Amino acid sequence: MVALKKPVGAITRGTTNPNRLRRVDRYLTSLTFLKDIPQPLAVDLGYGRTPVTAVELLSRLEKVAPRVRVLGVEIDPERVQEAKPLEHSRLSFTHGGFEIPIPPEFSDRKDVDLIRSLNVLRQYSESEVESAWALMQSRLSKTGLIIEGTSDEIGRVASWVTLDKSGPLSFTSSLRLQGLEKPSKVQERLPKILIHKNVSGNNIHRYLKDLDREWERASGFGAFGSAQRFVQVAKAMLLAGWPIENKPKRWRLGELSVEFQAIS
Ligand SMILES: C[S@@+](CC[C@H](N)C(=O)[O-])C[C@H]1O[C@@H](n2cnc3c(N)ncnc32)[C@H](O)[C@@H]1O
Repeated sequence: MVALKKPVGAITRGTTNPNRLRRVDRYLTSLTFLKDIPQPLAVDLGYGRTPVTAVELLSRLEKVAPRVRVLGVEIDPERVQEAKPLEHSRLSFTHGGFEIPIPPEFSDRKDVDLIRSLNVLRQYSESEVESAWALMQSRLSKTGLIIEGTSDEIGRVASWVTLDKSGPLSFTSSLRLQGLEKPSKVQERLPKILIHKNVSGNNIHRYLKDLDREWERASGFGAFGSAQRFVQVAKAMLLAGWPIENKPKRWRLGELSVEFQAIS
């Protein structure tokens, strides 16, 4: 499908940076589903002023899925033209929006296995999020996933929602632990759907407060390093009843995933 109609969405600021999305990519390479697909197709939706994050996505994913192909989709046609010289058999760039058009070179596929859309919906209004999600979900293969979220410019703070075709599954925060004052730092970079809900009385607010409280309580573990301290926090969150989904190996990296329903 080539974009004949107007792409869905609006051109926004194109700020990007090399390595900015490393925390998201590290999470992606820990997911096993891509390994089971013979030739996965992954989309970097809204790659920005330069296609650096799309190039990085390919180089990171091919370590776990050697035949993966990456499609960079950008709603600003000039940014697509600038990326074109980097194309090769497993990397392509196309003009489009949340409807995710598949260009002729990848026309053996009707849908996609992965959509990573970082720092895109942040510049939209909250009321636009669910329709954008629904359109992206309609473009997913049966086992496909969407990673939609926000990060800071240098990739030390990031958070995202993971969705499949049926809806949002989990919320993940990923923080550089070294020098971290408190885990609620992630509130500076929440996905759009959660930013305005982070007020007293809502689950996301309660979740971040609990994280800070447990971080404080675990201060004694700081002597063993901030990774050990954060592992302690994750264990305490589980004990307190939060449906934390990932394991100590991820916690040590400052990554914590919780069932989406619990914080929504
Ligand atoms: C802030 S940049 C983010 C770049 C990169 N993803 C990153 O995190 O560094 C946002 C980009 O998304 C593009 N964009 C906004 N809405 C879009 C849409 N619906 N479809 C495709 N691209 C979109 C904007 O034109 C802009 O280049």
